[in-house]
Amino acid sequence: RPGAGRWVPDGAERTDVDALAQAAHACRGCELWHDATQVVFSAGPSDADLALVGEQPGDREDREGEPFVGPAGRVLADALEAAGVDARTVYLTNAVKHFRHTELPERGKRRLHKTPAVAHVRACLPWLEAELAAVRPRVVVALGSTAARAVLGAPARVGELRGRALPPPDGAPVGAVPDVEAVVVTTHPSALLRLRDRSGWDEAFDALVADLATAARAAH
Ligand code: URA
Ligand code: SF4
Repeated sequence: RPGAGRWVPDGAERTDVDALAQAAHACRGCELWHDATQVVFSAGPSDADLALVGEQPGDREDREGEPFVGPAGRVLADALEAAGVDARTVYLTNAVKHFRHTELPERGKRRLHKTPAVAHVRACLPWLEAELAAVRPRVVVALGSTAARAVLGAPARVGELRGRALPPPDGAPVGAVPDVEAVVVTTHPSALLRLRDRSGWDEAFDALVADLATAARAAH
């Protein structure tokens, strides 16, 4: 079947996050590798109790090869700190490992983020399955609807699901990891970057912090 599956290593390498990250450089499981600079795999300890799943690398992440090093990562770091979570203890990854974007030649080739399609999420899922099986976190946080779809294995409305410690559904990527006790869905930090007025920002930030705190409590 199409997708990343045939690039995911078997055996001992399958449960070694560094080996997975290394193997992902060769992935051609969908077309997104072609226009991206490099694969962006994950960051953080491979024995973390808390795993955070984003959507896909952004422009900065694509250039640097590290997840959440751009503006959304700044928001996330601030929210984790406000939630009392040491960011160094958290495993960070994305549903899709290559940067999907469009180029605007009339604006000096500025690269514009493009939301990955369901087909990209599905193609990239073998990486998420393998890394979650390797890390075996107690709680998985899905940042935004793309991540929620990947983690829960079904379309998900963030507004309806957010902020609760949800039981991991059977069969979904998390359902195959016995250690996962809960999934917490929240907004994507980049959604805050689009908020212009101060009160909207504060409200959205506080809600993100509250959801991350819920996840941290569930992981203890
Ligand atoms: N947004 C994401 O979802 N992931 C990143 O790594 C950066 C921005
Ligand atoms: Fe492979 Fe995922 Fe990159 Fe597609 S986005 S090429 S499936 S790593």
